[in-house]
This record gives sequence, structure tokens and C-alpha cells, in this order.
Amino acid sequence: MIVLGIESSCDETAAAVVADGSLRSNIITPQPDHTAYGGVVPEVASRLHELHIIPVVEQALAAAGTSIHDLTGIAATYGPGLAGALIVGLNFAKGLAQSLSLPFIGIDHMEGHLWANFLQDPPTADSYPYLCLLASGGHTHLWRVDGVGQYTLLGRSLDDAAGEAFDKGARLLGLGYPGGPAIEAVAEKGDPQSVDFPRPMKGSPKCDFSFSGLKTALYHHLRDLSESQQLKRQRHIAAAYQEAIVDSLLDRLQQGVRLTGLSRVCVAGGVSANARLRNRLDDWAASENLSISYPPLEFCTDNAAMIAMAGYVRLQAGDRSSLDLEVKPNLSLADHSRPSQTSQGHAQG
Ligand SMILES: Nc1ncnc2c1ncn2[C@@H]1O[C@H](COP(=O)(O)OP(=O)(O)OP(=O)(O)O)[C@@H](O)[C@H]1O
Ligand SMILES: [Mg+2]
Repeated sequence: MIVLGIESSCDETAAAVVADGSLRSNIITPQPDHTAYGGVVPEVASRLHELHIIPVVEQALAAAGTSIHDLTGIAATYGPGLAGALIVGLNFAKGLAQSLSLPFIGIDHMEGHLWANFLQDPPTADSYPYLCLLASGGHTHLWRVDGVGQYTLLGRSLDDAAGEAFDKGARLLGLGYPGGPAIEAVAEKGDPQSVDFPRPMKGSPKCDFSFSGLKTALYHHLRDLSESQQLKRQRHIAAAYQEAIVDSLLDRLQQGVRLTGLSRVCVAGGVSANARLRNRLDDWAASENLSISYPPLEFCTDNAAMIAMAGYVRLQAGDRSSLDLEVKPNLSLADHSRPSQTSQGHAQG
């Protein structure tokens, strides 16, 4: 089966090809045009997707050594994301599927992030069940995964996402966007114990997360320092702030393992690129005899490879979407996944 995957939920036009479970190509055209506005402008994003979608798909097919006539399935993100941006990729994919009479599947962007862990080694029956910490710019979720489409939400952030905490923290610290890599770079030479930031939800019996209080604590800490003190201590404050986010994620993951008894853990989403997080989680996993995996760095943030892989496993499982499928900007994976009969722990909506 050769699947073309298309992703256009925000400000990256991306296409990828997965053939028989192996990634053959992965093309991303970012939109630096938004930098001038200090954030993604939906109208600009849609227009640029229109401009880029055909060349990006052509490049993905060429890099995979395939033509549209070799394809056996097409997948595209249908939510969550910006409506006008999603429409471009979804309608292109539906039009192509109809003209080639190919099966089509709409993919939830968050389900795509879940599958990024299997881009190098496709899943087998032994891969399940596992816990997945999904920490991205807009979501922080803890999932139990029992198979294709079988996801049970164990916990979610009650306010900001972990990536959002990095982005907002970086803005307060006067660092650039995206905040995660900016904080990580500055924090490298800082002392993570230099500020005693709160660890929200630590020790809670549930698996939920919270990050907005941490951001407020950073705001108050900076407010009490002069500009020159802020600059002088920037690397230490960044390291301590990053450590608080990492500590919170680790604590919630530990609680997920305690509640479910699972010994396989995956981490996905942009925040899973963070080296400090990976080091802390690796140490914990080694001490508890758990297996832990992360996507290769290039597949942590948005890409179409993860959409093509999710489409591949879905189509292989016999799932199909109607060509009437519309974009769903507020799509929630928890609302359309099938929790496993055998899943333990508490599911939340
Ligand atoms: N090295 C890093 N350390 C920490 N955070 C990081 C790192 N690299 C990227 N991030 C964060 O990851 C986020 C982007 O990830 P991703 O592309 O998965 O999110 P998104 O697509 O914007 O949101 P969502 O997937 O929830 O819709 C940003 O918040 C960014 O700061
Ligand atoms: Mg994303």
C-alpha cells in the first residue's frame, strides 16, 4: 500500500509518502512570512497553502520515486487547526482521491503525532498497549494506546499546553519563537535549581497537567528583577523554568504508569524534542525497567510523514472517510477514538 499524506493545519504545507509501512519522502514548506506579524495570520496561511500545495505534493512524489498513479490511498489532516488552512490540504486530498478513485482517510492531527513514533519501525501486535505522552504547542495529553484507533485519554492539561508554557515563558524572558528550542538553548549553561518554581499537579492522583500557574510564577519572578539582573540571570531562570516543566511531565507520566501498570512509553509532539526532557525520562525509564521511545527530532513538530503513517495504519485497518468529510477546527481525538475494552485507568472527556 502506498499512501500520500497531506498536512496543512497551521503554517506548514507538508506532504509525505509511506509505502508498505516505510517512509519514502517527507517535504515541508514552512511559512516564515508570519514572523513579521508576531504570530500566524490565518488568511495569509491559507493563501500560502494554496500557493505551495501542488509543488509540495509533486516534490513528495518525486522524492519517493512514485507517481500519482502508483498511489493506493490518500490521507489528509481534517482538524484540529485553522479552518482556512485545513480546507486547502483536505480539499486537495479529496479531489485527488476522487479523480484517481482511491480510498481516502481524514486524519486527526493529534493522532498523527501519536504515530510519529512508528515512522522508523512500523507497529506490530507486540507494540500495544503503551502509554503516550503527547506534548505539543496546543495540547498536553496522556493516552493509553491499545491499537489503531483505540486510544483512552488518561489525563490532559487543564489550562496551557506544555509547548505553550515554553512559548509564553520564552516571550517573558525576551527569547524568540518558538519558545521551546529558544529556552532549551539558553538553559544549557544555566543552573536548573537556581529558582524554586512550582510543579503544578505534582502528586495528584489523576493524570492531568497544568502549566498556567508556572507561567505566572515566572512573570512574578521576572517582575521583581531589574532589566540587567534579568539579562544576567537569564540562563539560570530559563534552566529552572524548563526543569519545572520537565518535572511536571515526568511526574504525570509516572502517575500514568502507576495507574495502568504499563511498561512501554512513547513521547510525541514538539516538546518531545527537548533534550533535558529526554535525559530525565531516559534515567527514569532505566531505573524502572521501562521501554521508552521518541520520534526522530524532525518528526516531533508538525510534518506530513506522521499523517501519511497514521493514514497508512488506518487504511490498512479498513478505515475509510467519506468524500463529504469537512474540516473540524476544534476536533478532539478523545471524542472519536475507541477506548479499548481492556483499558485500565480513568478515561476523561
Ligand atoms: N526543543 C524543544 N523543547 C521544548 N519545546 C519545544 C522544542 N521544540 C519545539 N518545542 C515546542 O513544540 C511546540 C510545537 O510543536 P507542535 O508542532 O507539535 O505543536 P503545534 O502543531 O503547534 O500544536 P498542536 O500539535 O497541539 O496543534 C511549540 O510550542 C514549541 O515551543
Ligand atoms: Mg502539531
